[in-house]
Amino acid sequence: MENKEKEVLLKVRGAKTYFPIKKGLLKRTVGYVKAVDDISLDVYRGETLGLVGESGCGKTTLGKSILQLVPITDGSMEYKFEDGYRNLRTLSRKEIDNARQKIQIVFQDPYSSLNPAFTIFGSLEDPLIKFGVKKKEDRIKKIGDLLEAVNLPRDYMTRYPNEFSGGQRQRIGIARALSVNPELIICDEAVSALDVSIQAQVLKLLNKLKEEYQLTYIFITHDLSVVEYLADRIAVMYLGRVVELTTSEELFANTLHPYTKALLSAIPVADVHQTKKRIPLQGDVPSPANPPSGCTFHPRCPEVCEKCKTERPMLEEYIIDGVSHFVSCHKVKEELAAKGILPVVKE
Ligand SMILES: Nc1ncnc2c1ncn2[C@@H]1O[C@H](COP(=O)(O)OP(=O)(O)OP(=O)(O)O)[C@@H](O)[C@H]1O
Ligand SMILES: [Mg+2]
Repeated sequence: MENKEKEVLLKVRGAKTYFPIKKGLLKRTVGYVKAVDDISLDVYRGETLGLVGESGCGKTTLGKSILQLVPITDGSMEYKFEDGYRNLRTLSRKEIDNARQKIQIVFQDPYSSLNPAFTIFGSLEDPLIKFGVKKKEDRIKKIGDLLEAVNLPRDYMTRYPNEFSGGQRQRIGIARALSVNPELIICDEAVSALDVSIQAQVLKLLNKLKEEYQLTYIFITHDLSVVEYLADRIAVMYLGRVVELTTSEELFANTLHPYTKALLSAIPVADVHQTKKRIPLQGDVPSPANPPSGCTFHPRCPEVCEKCKTERPMLEEYIIDGVSHFVSCHKVKEELAAKGILPVVKE
């Protein structure tokens, strides 16, 4: 409910990104990897939306789909530009360049995206030139400011990528994303490769930068304990779909989906009284090329019932104690209905 007054920066509706599987001499399409399979969600301006789920559930593909870096099969992604909402999928080439300035992505290993033959100045200069910073002295000043913003000395701009540690390189990746004054930054496993202590530093930095630059983050991670620290809301993904989406507080305090419960119970916490029952996740994630029928989580679900095997549960919104909580589970729906809590009817 509290989200209703917030400004929606990005509206994803029915997004599908399928990768064709081709076989034989004629490269016939024999099926599809349904990496993103009907995702709808809103991203509010100024929030950090965590996107979590096991490896292969489509997190990166969703991030790339927003940036139009992969061909999208269906659905829309409406972004709020100065003159109103426009579908990122139907923008002209020139408009896409403008959108890619507003939306930046930071990957797990910025080393692969920093040219080893260039100094940091060389790597960070490029986007600034494109962005219209014409004078070299202005670029030197701006890059110095950006390095300071990510807690690195200004004179590091003359160094090469191999002279930095992983944590420092990640800071440089963040500085580069910031250089074009973006609005939305998609952080894809941005801290996953770092040591825990360095992770905490970079997370703190990201929080500081969010305030300073009034950013919105989509924070992708397979590690729920990372988003718990950072995210305002969390979307849990399973096999290309969102299965639960609510505020971080609500997700941890009132976990509804059996998959989220299993993910949460896998986080090592100091639980001396053993109050939380550990629910081991059975089996592997099924292939998104051949997802199970009905609820795609049903073969691994400890609470599976007959309906789950045949009927796909919809992601529906409930208002629980005043908080918006999306979940797609037949069992949860029944349990909520028994308490008189019914899904919000869309107008
Ligand atoms: N370009 C591509 N062509 C074909 N299949 C792809 C392509 N990119 C991703 N996939 C498949 O789509 C599914 C989702 O992949 P994706 O990288 O989005 O998952 P992820 O949630 O980011 O996983 P991880 O946590 O390991 O990064 C996987 O089955 C993957 O093999
Ligand atoms: Mg990924």
